[in-house]
Amino acid sequence: MKKNPFDLTGKNAVVTGAYQGLGWGMAQGLAEAGARVIMVDVHPDIDEKAARFRKRGLLAEGICCDLLSRDSRAELKVEVESILDGQLNIMVNNAGIQIRHSVLKFPIEDWDKVIELNLSAVFDLAQWAANLMVAIGKGKIINIASVNSIAAGINTVAYCAAKGGVMQLTKTMANELSSQGINVNCIAPGYMATPINTALVEDTSRFSELSQRIPAKRWGQPEDMAGAAVYLASDASDYVCGVMLPVDGGYLSR
Ligand SMILES: NC(=O)c1ccc[n+]([C@@H]2O[C@H](COP(=O)([O-])OP(=O)(O)OC[C@H]3O[C@@H](n4cnc5c(N)ncnc54)[C@H](O)[C@@H]3O)[C@@H](O)[C@H]2O)c1
Repeated sequence: MKKNPFDLTGKNAVVTGAYQGLGWGMAQGLAEAGARVIMVDVHPDIDEKAARFRKRGLLAEGICCDLLSRDSRAELKVEVESILDGQLNIMVNNAGIQIRHSVLKFPIEDWDKVIELNLSAVFDLAQWAANLMVAIGKGKIINIASVNSIAAGINTVAYCAAKGGVMQLTKTMANELSSQGINVNCIAPGYMATPINTALVEDTSRFSELSQRIPAKRWGQPEDMAGAAVYLASDASDYVCGVMLPVDGGYLSR
């Protein structure tokens, strides 16, 4: 019988920012599809989150790492390569932060922080993953962009600049790597009910303005990310290169 193209059994994945929110939802989806998932997060209890998956018979382990630090990222790479013996098949660059200030007052220190985590770390880890995958001859890199890669926000200039960059670095990497069996794509989540959006949800007028613009008439949940992540991580997407897949309840179509 033909193998299910969405089956990730035997594949090794890394998901950053997997303690909560969308990273957690995608880690769960990949593990349920059969992958062994290394969950990376700055939260010290990340392995306890992975342990909850292990209790369900899924393959997951947690590594605590502050991805804002280039030194910590270098250590992470060494640790993951050693755990997986260099066999990295799926890389999900999800960890991200939001810092809000008006454009006239945005401190350069906060700009640097957002750009380092949301853009530079994405490139750094995608480049590392790509080199491992080129040696294998196949691999899947999934970067988490945003509807803000296309439609910009308010008081979020660094975030929107970084997310626009994630979309463009995804396409450039795909242009260079698709012929070597590496699929580089990104997912653009819409408005999702996760802690990164606490300030938006608490701003009742902005919350209602945004909610009215979502054709699905609801905010997304972490579990809504799983299908797109599994698809882009699997053989089913082998001819899908450099796309930005919105998971946004239709937001970008309005
Ligand atoms: N929630 C949304 O509406 C939405 C929309 C579009 C894009 N996104 C993107 O999706 C991704 C996940 O967002 P979320 O909503 O799940 O956010 P979240 O704040 O709920 O989760 C982010 C995770 O990243 C981790 N993290 C933060 N800083 C880190 C660091 N320095 N090193 C390692 N891990 C770190 C956090 O501990 C947390 O587990 C982000 O890239 C975000 O920009 C989210």
